[in-house]
Amino acid sequence: MFDFFAGMFSTDLAIDLGTSNTLLFVRGKGIVINEPSVVAVQQLPGGRRELLAVGREAKDMLGRTPGDIQAIKPVKQGVIADFEATAEMLRTFIQKAHGRKALVKPRIIICVPVGITEVEKRAVRESAESASAREVHLIEEPMAAAIGAGMPITEPSGNMIVDVGGGTCEVAVISLGGIVYNRSIRVGGDKMDLAIMNHIKRRYSLLVGEQTAEQIKIKIGNAYPDDEIATMEVKGRDLVAGVPKTVEVNSDEIREAMSEPINNIVEAVRISLERTPPELASDIVDRGIILTGGGSLLHNFDTLLREETGLPVYLAEEPVTGTVTGAGIALEQLDLLQQVSIES
Ligand SMILES: Nc1ncnc2c1ncn2[C@@H]1O[C@H](COP(=O)(O)OP(=O)(O)OP(=O)(O)O)[C@@H](O)[C@H]1O
Ligand SMILES: [Mg+2]
Repeated sequence: MFDFFAGMFSTDLAIDLGTSNTLLFVRGKGIVINEPSVVAVQQLPGGRRELLAVGREAKDMLGRTPGDIQAIKPVKQGVIADFEATAEMLRTFIQKAHGRKALVKPRIIICVPVGITEVEKRAVRESAESASAREVHLIEEPMAAAIGAGMPITEPSGNMIVDVGGGTCEVAVISLGGIVYNRSIRVGGDKMDLAIMNHIKRRYSLLVGEQTAEQIKIKIGNAYPDDEIATMEVKGRDLVAGVPKTVEVNSDEIREAMSEPINNIVEAVRISLERTPPELASDIVDRGIILTGGGSLLHNFDTLLREETGLPVYLAEEPVTGTVTGAGIALEQLDLLQQVSIES
């Protein structure tokens, strides 16, 4: 009877605290928050800061803020870089997720990069505790992503997942509920945006912001050429004249501009395949590679990886929400949670 009520009023949460996006999954409800990991603060005299906005509202302020207002991305390369801002962001999202039920102290499971340090773990744990968590569990991101993608992670067979996020790319081979091999590089969608900004600056003497670069990548970017070349008009500030200017860019030059970060990711997958124990490698040859993370939505990225590895490559059904969904599934199955969480 007690369990029944505890379940009914449960506010247990899964959180994917990403470099680009933070997602919250409420047990029994599903995903309730999916917003950019951005916090806008106002600098006050005496070094204090006042929170102005979080999430989507704050992201719209990126690159558009007057002097005393700052839009911060508190998570860098998958780990907390600004503890205070992260805690504020989590508090706000958790309140939003719970609505009036905020009194109940939740059990929280948080996705973390593979191999984070003890100090980083403590920062994640404390930021959740300061947002009133009763019990905090940590799960490694590729594990959560693999569960979310429906991979048979508890079977004695090799499963390879490649998660291309905003700040990182993580390659992992999972078998029997554990990560057998992992390779993480600090390259993801953000580096592609940066490469586009640099290209436009060099080629056209035009300054564009990160947001514009990201839009170009999503709209016309690709990792492997199509039959047709797409074009797009881009507005920015002329470096020489200092005035607004518009230029036209095409998909070929954008792919070329992004080639370094994209090659880094392909290389990470190649090295991982070479270093995977042979039995598991042969499973991967049969089952293929699962691609997830927002960065894997780059047009034709799966095609490129298929060409480069000669293996079957499948895009996960929900590349952006898969990780938090996987953590949410673990939250609902205690035996699975015990098996896959890295600290109890
Ligand atoms: N359609 C798309 N084409 C290309 N890139 C995309 C697309 N949609 C989203 N992205 C990119 O995906 C990235 C964000 O992915 P995701 O939300 O998985 O990252 P994250 O989990 O926040 O980051 P990390 O896992 O590195 O901490 C961003 O760089 C974004 O520009
Ligand atoms: Mg991620």
